[in-house]
Amino acid sequence: MGTGINKLICGNWKMHHDHLQAVSTLQALSLRLQAANLSKVEVVVHPPFVDLRSCQTVIEDRHIPVLLGAQNCHSEDSGAYTGEVSPAMLARLAVSYVIVGHSERRRLFHESDADIAAKVPAVLRYGMTPIVCVGEDEQERDAGRTMERLESQVSISLSKVKKVGIPSVVFAYEPLWAIGSGNPATTEDALVARDTIARAVARASRGVAVEKGSGTRVLYGGSVVPENAADFVKKGGMDGLLVGGASLSPESFAAIVEAVAAVS
Ligand code: 13P
Repeated sequence: MGTGINKLICGNWKMHHDHLQAVSTLQALSLRLQAANLSKVEVVVHPPFVDLRSCQTVIEDRHIPVLLGAQNCHSEDSGAYTGEVSPAMLARLAVSYVIVGHSERRRLFHESDADIAAKVPAVLRYGMTPIVCVGEDEQERDAGRTMERLESQVSISLSKVKKVGIPSVVFAYEPLWAIGSGNPATTEDALVARDTIARAVARASRGVAVEKGSGTRVLYGGSVVPENAADFVKKGGMDGLLVGGASLSPESFAAIVEAVAAVS
């Protein structure tokens, strides 16, 4: 954390934008991204699976300086898993980042800790970077159990990762009560979460000599908008952001990138 590497700004489009809308959004975004900012900030979009091939093509053909991400994947390379998409398939589409264990997947699709623990090494095996989402719900927050919840989610998600792979895993602190609510965490909350996640990662990687400058990256997600984006990086000590609603519009997503670049 605070390693001096580029900040990471990810747009999770969730179940929005068909492939035609995705392509036009990417084109509009590329017109708004400033080259100078992109030396400080890495920009990733996570469209729905069915958009990935079209997005890959337009990014390559038009040299759009945006990386491709996925919102989920299965842990197996192939098999009788109707409706699922494997990490091998994502890697073939030049996907760089895969969100793992988003709270909507945990809550609405009953994804278990064991599922998440299996997905993280599967993503790493294909040279992609997992972005593991962790965060407490409102009840846990009110009961003062945030740290305990984060520690357990981090430690389970790393339980099947080889120790040398641990520094490559990105974490996103996304408190459930902040997602889509217009009620973001405070920068103080972010600082506490960042330290808690860092400690849990350090515990999981005990015995591994972590090279200087290769520390774990922690993102913040939950009601990020252009007006609060910079503070999470500057005051909240975050290495970047995982943006939902505000990443759907090229204008607001580019404004978030610009705001973070200005303080990086
Ligand atoms: P919002 O930015 O819409 O609150 O969503 C956050 C999120 O869930 C990103 O993964």
